[in-house]
Amino acid sequence: MKLFYALLAVLFLFSFAGGAEKSCVTSECHKDMKDYKVIHAPVDDDCLTCHEKTGDHKFTKIANINEHCNECHDDQTDKKNVHDAVSSGDCTDCHFSHGGDYKAFLKHKRIDKVCFDCHDEDPMNKKFVHGPNASGNCSLCHESHSSNNKFLLVEPMKVICTRCHSDKDFSGADQKMHSPMKEGCSKCHSPHSSGHEFQLIADREKLCSECHKKITDKVDSVKFKHAVVNENKKCYNCHDAHGSLYDNNLKISPLKLCLNCHDKKLIGTDGKDYNIFKIVNRNKFKHGPIKDGNCTGCHDPHGSDFYMILKDEFPKEFYTAYEEKKYASCFECHESKLAKVERTVALTNFRDGDWNLHYVHVNMTKGRTCRACHEIHASNLPKHIRKETPFGKWSLPVGFEKTKTGGSCAPGCHKEYSYDRNKKVKGL
Ligand code: HEC
Ligand code: HEC
Ligand code: HEC
Ligand code: HEC
Ligand code: HEC
Ligand code: HEC
Ligand code: HEC
Ligand code: HEC
Ligand code: HEC
Ligand code: HEC
Ligand code: HEC
Ligand code: HEC
Ligand code: HEC
Repeated sequence: MKLFYALLAVLFLFSFAGGAEKSCVTSECHKDMKDYKVIHAPVDDDCLTCHEKTGDHKFTKIANINEHCNECHDDQTDKKNVHDAVSSGDCTDCHFSHGGDYKAFLKHKRIDKVCFDCHDEDPMNKKFVHGPNASGNCSLCHESHSSNNKFLLVEPMKVICTRCHSDKDFSGADQKMHSPMKEGCSKCHSPHSSGHEFQLIADREKLCSECHKKITDKVDSVKFKHAVVNENKKCYNCHDAHGSLYDNNLKISPLKLCLNCHDKKLIGTDGKDYNIFKIVNRNKFKHGPIKDGNCTGCHDPHGSDFYMILKDEFPKEFYTAYEEKKYASCFECHESKLAKVERTVALTNFRDGDWNLHYVHVNMTKGRTCRACHEIHASNLPKHIRKETPFGKWSLPVGFEKTKTGGSCAPGCHKEYSYDRNKKVKGL
């Protein structure tokens, strides 16, 4: 193409041999026509390439500037979407025709200033300005003339942002992309600038509620709140707004997610230490759901109306009057009749012959709750039996020994008893 122009220029030089005489630019006439750092090649050659010579030397406007320019330049309007400024305006709205001091004979040094001749500058200049916009180079994302993409983008909406932000590309087969990302980043971010941090379209703390009102309403209304969710609606403590390798856009694997916070002294409103990391990691027998890496089998991470943000009821006391529904948290997965019947050979192994010892301990007005004997998260004894259990300020020893067909306890509650499923010990 360059060669073509060069040839053309040479041709012009020959056909107007002695051009100096005919020059329109003299010390008197049109002397500022070439006052540019770079002169547009045809201007340097002959004014009549573009202008018509009229007898009375009256200036005649060039009839169709764009067509005229396109005679030598690649058609700037050959793509699907043509910039209004080009289709219904002139090349000269943005370019000087005779030459220029800046790139591509533009009328301003900064490209954004060229755009701001027509476009409102305010939306581009809010408190938080996107990096590339701050540099003023709109062409990093937009074509100036025409494009096959919406909004004259240099690349389709889907990939324009990840061209630079490759870490936000969650389109891989093993990755899970947050649904709104499929429609492009501008569902949540302004590509130009915004009054909110990270050029978000709303405050980071309110953004999620625009689409997840059910959850954010619940987070506000539940009786037992999980502080990390409620304080400033920090959904991003656990979720990545863009995507993740894990379900539910969790930042890390579900188990690690919980344990990474619960690995230190976390004193709750009740004065209890919520460091669960030690218990889970240092004990041999982990509870089924935890083995599966699933704390949310029992807890609702967003808070709940039940004690300890459990998904269902569980008594918070050491003693409580028996009612099946009080243990709904356990009976979601375990046999709900566990402590209901006095005699059984099927419902539980905690029995002396057919005498149900779960019934004996749990099913009474001053029934012991499961925590009296079980450590729910993990334990070093089989069947999640605790070594000791908190009883007021005392840690009451449980003293459990398991045998093939039963076991024995030497707790702080009573003298040592044993049970045997095959050969009744007590004969009751
Ligand atoms: C590449 C094409 C081209 C060449 C070559 C060219 N011009 Fe122009 N010129 C234009 C265009 C386009 C305009 C704007 C016309 C309009 O507004 O209608 C223009 C405008 C003008 C104007 C009127 C407005 C102004 O800027 O003062 C004058 C005078 C002028 N040209 C003189 C010249 C002279 C003298 C030369 C040779 C040194 C020359 N032109 C070479 C394209 C050209
Ligand atoms: C007679 C042929 C011809 C016409 C008509 C013409 N140009 Fe050019 N233009 C050239 C040549 C030759 C160059 C120098 C080529 C190069 O450096 O790539 C050039 C360079 C340019 C450049 C700078 C390109 C760059 O990469 O920096 C711009 C912008 C430009 N022209 C715009 C226009 C506009 C706007 C018009 C119409 C007003 C126009 N041209 C009309 C031949 C022409
Ligand atoms: C809305 C403003 C605008 C209009 C109107 C416009 N251009 Fe441009 N043009 C630009 C900008 C901005 C650039 C520089 C892009 C960049 O950063 O590379 C440019 C670059 C160019 C270049 C340099 C090579 C290239 O493609 O990057 C040429 C040649 C050119 N324009 C020709 C034209 C012609 C011919 C017309 C009319 C048909 C025209 N322009 C209309 C803004 C405009
Ligand atoms: C001469 C006036 C003018 C200039 C200069 C101008 N534009 Fe435009 N632009 C328009 C008009 C008119 C429209 C169509 C109406 C609208 O969307 O505002 C438009 C539309 C757009 C659109 C939306 C296209 C769509 O499909 O919705 C983008 C993006 C755009 N311009 C970018 C730019 C950029 C980038 C620049 C600077 C390089 C620029 N404009 C310079 C007049 C201009
Ligand atoms: C980082 C890429 C990027 C940069 C840089 C950028 N834009 Fe955009 N622009 C976009 C995207 C993406 C859209 C489509 C937004 C949407 O989906 O609403 C857009 C839309 C637009 C629109 C049409 C819709 C609207 O918001 O009015 C205009 C006009 C526009 N941009 C002008 C500009 C101007 C002027 C500049 C330089 C100051 C600029 N853009 C810089 C990516 C960018
Ligand atoms: C041309 C490269 C480029 C493109 C394309 C691009 N960005 Fe950026 N983006 C940057 C740079 C550079 C920064 C500043 C990085 C920094 O400060 O560490 C940035 C920063 C950001 C930030 C962080 C702002 C903050 O306060 O930390 C967000 C959000 C962002 N971009 C979103 C987008 C979106 C959405 C798109 C697509 C519309 C996009 N980017 C396209 C280069 C780009
Ligand atoms: C559902 C809303 C949403 C969508 C869609 C979205 N983001 Fe974000 N983005 C956020 C939020 C919220 C933040 C604030 C930081 C956080 O919560 O981690 C953020 C922060 C960022 C940051 C700065 C902080 C960081 O993590 O580097 C960049 C860059 C970014 N987003 C780029 C993108 C890109 C690129 C896309 C599209 C591929 C995109 N975002 C789509 C909500 C979104
Ligand atoms: C303490 C970590 C944590 C915080 C903070 C958190 N989430 Fe979640 N979220 C999770 C976990 C874990 C899951 C998966 C639940 C499951 O496995 O049943 C989840 C699931 C979800 C789901 C999909 C399943 C559903 O219940 O619809 C949405 C939507 C959601 N969270 C939105 C939010 C919003 C909005 C916020 C901020 C108000 C938030 N999350 C704060 C941990 C958290
Ligand atoms: C523009 C609307 C929109 C915004 C804003 C938004 N989301 Fe979503 N989100 C969705 C949609 C749509 C789904 C898919 C819902 C479905 O499949 O039921 C979804 C799904 C989710 C899921 C479940 C993902 C899964 O694997 O099923 C989580 C978790 C989530 N969003 C968290 C968030 C968080 C945290 C924020 C704030 C940073 C947020 N969302 C902001 C629209 C949004
Ligand atoms: C970002 C840190 C963080 C993450 C992640 C986190 N937590 Fe918490 N959690 C806390 C803090 C701090 C407290 C103590 C403050 C409070 O809520 O009273 C707490 C309290 C709790 C409580 C006691 C609630 C009550 O009613 O007193 C439970 C149960 C809990 N978290 C379980 C979980 C589970 C399950 C997960 C994983 C889904 C998880 N946490 C993830 C920080 C975290
Ligand atoms: C099988 C159901 C279940 C699973 C699974 C479970 N929890 Fe719990 N969690 C409970 C119950 C029940 C309590 C109340 C215990 C009590 O009061 O003795 C509790 C209490 C807690 C407490 C309060 C401190 C304490 O020791 O009582 C934290 C913190 C906690 N769980 C975190 C987690 C984390 C983190 C996970 C995943 C590693 C997890 N839980 C898995 C049922 C469960
Ligand atoms: C989300 C389902 C689920 C919930 C809720 C649940 N568990 Fe479990 N539990 C299991 C699974 C799975 C096992 C492992 C069974 C196995 O290894 O054969 C298990 C094992 C046990 C064991 C040891 C049994 C054995 O054979 O090793 C005890 C004791 C136990 N759970 C008590 C409880 C208590 C008390 C609660 C209520 C706080 C509870 N569970 C809630 C799923 C659950
Ligand atoms: C007095 C202590 C004690 C109490 C209170 C107690 N358990 Fe147990 N539980 C045991 C013992 C001991 C075993 C082991 C039986 C065996 O395998 O020999 C056991 C076993 C289990 C098992 C394994 C299956 C089975 O029944 O053999 C589950 C599940 C279980 N208990 C759930 C619960 C639930 C739920 C509660 C509260 C409603 C509870 N336990 C209360 C002592 C107790």
